[in-house]
Amino acid sequence: MGRPVSDFIAREARFGAQNYEPLAVVLSRGEGVFVWDTQGNRYLDCLSAYSAVNQGHCHPKILAAMVEQAGKLTLTSRAFHNDQLAPFYEQIAELTGSHKILPMNSGAEAVESAIKSVRKWGYEVKGVPDGQAEIIVCADNFHGRTLGIIGFSTDAAAREHFGPFAPGFRIIPFGNAKALEEAITPNTVAFLVEPIQGEAGVIVPPPGYFANVRELCTAHDVMLILDEIQTGLGRTGKLLAEQHDDIEADVTLLGKALSGGFYPVSAVLSNNAVLGTLRPGQHGSTFGGNPLACAVARAALRVLVEEGMIENAAVQGARFLDGLRSIRSNVIREVRGRGLMLAVELHPQAGEARRYCQALQSKGILAKDTHGHTIRIAPALVITSDQVDWALEQIGATLSRDLS
Ligand SMILES: Cc1ncc(COP(=O)(O)O)c(C=O)c1O
Repeated sequence: MGRPVSDFIAREARFGAQNYEPLAVVLSRGEGVFVWDTQGNRYLDCLSAYSAVNQGHCHPKILAAMVEQAGKLTLTSRAFHNDQLAPFYEQIAELTGSHKILPMNSGAEAVESAIKSVRKWGYEVKGVPDGQAEIIVCADNFHGRTLGIIGFSTDAAAREHFGPFAPGFRIIPFGNAKALEEAITPNTVAFLVEPIQGEAGVIVPPPGYFANVRELCTAHDVMLILDEIQTGLGRTGKLLAEQHDDIEADVTLLGKALSGGFYPVSAVLSNNAVLGTLRPGQHGSTFGGNPLACAVARAALRVLVEEGMIENAAVQGARFLDGLRSIRSNVIREVRGRGLMLAVELHPQAGEARRYCQALQSKGILAKDTHGHTIRIAPALVITSDQVDWALEQIGATLSRDLS
């Protein structure tokens, strides 16, 4: 038996900024789809660190690559070349068909980097008058927490008392191609959008939306930036969520599972035009493209493909979705998702989703509530049929009880 959970939580509260409200569980170990708390209790992790741990906790091959590289060379800065960067670029290019890659660290940094790059492209290639570039984004978006990004958030909690914010963004409803068409002006350089809105509660757009979006962006010479930081790398049952709609973004953003949860690694992928405008000294990051990050990311991508995790996400995701949809419960309003990016929305009268997450915790499942009434379910992509069935039993038993 370790220290009491309350001890860790009280010490965190004493010294830490209170910008999160975690469930009362203190984790100390993880393996595959499971995590263990300090008391030795095992949980099926149905959050996977917001899809950063797609490959499962502490994947042994990613761990081995990390340990090996950590003993050789970790950081050179980009003032010098390192021998891991070129193979990292080649591996991503081969996997995704991208022409240019910009390595960064956090997801938010990838988004910021994309915004800078498309603005530059707009001025230097499209011919937008300097300082006039516009980027269209969607209501209820989530692209990270930096000042540039929260300036175009529609979530009051994300913005309140953090202004003033940068101009140059137009907000339209998600899933509405007509709204996009109406918002485009000669100064529009890009449309930045999540293929499925994750933090908003796993909102899947109507069929055909992205085909229309692609056509509009092409017709108006607007760069389509797909933020695949959460939807990418197998989460939805395809390598990239754009493949469900048979389209190709001009700029694709990856993060989270690009390191399998070992290390912050993100990347902007683009055609030649957008990232091709960047010149030495115009953008950078001390840690971006470091050899440790590159070695970890290469292993993370390799296991994702070699171990069939993407196909497994499609198969187990369909099983999980069917199972959730067949739960008979008067508290469930809607079940939605794609692949292993799933959500159960509760009726407002059912009470806060957090209470159901606490009930799930007592049954050995860790899941996260979002926006009050939605429970997100996103286990690692290595989950088995038996584990899905077990999870469904626990979720069914929890949601068929009326806790209000
Ligand atoms: C779609 C999307 N974009 C960007 C981010 C930001 O990533 P990070 O927290 O690594 O900055 C997130 C994080 O949840 C996300 O879901």
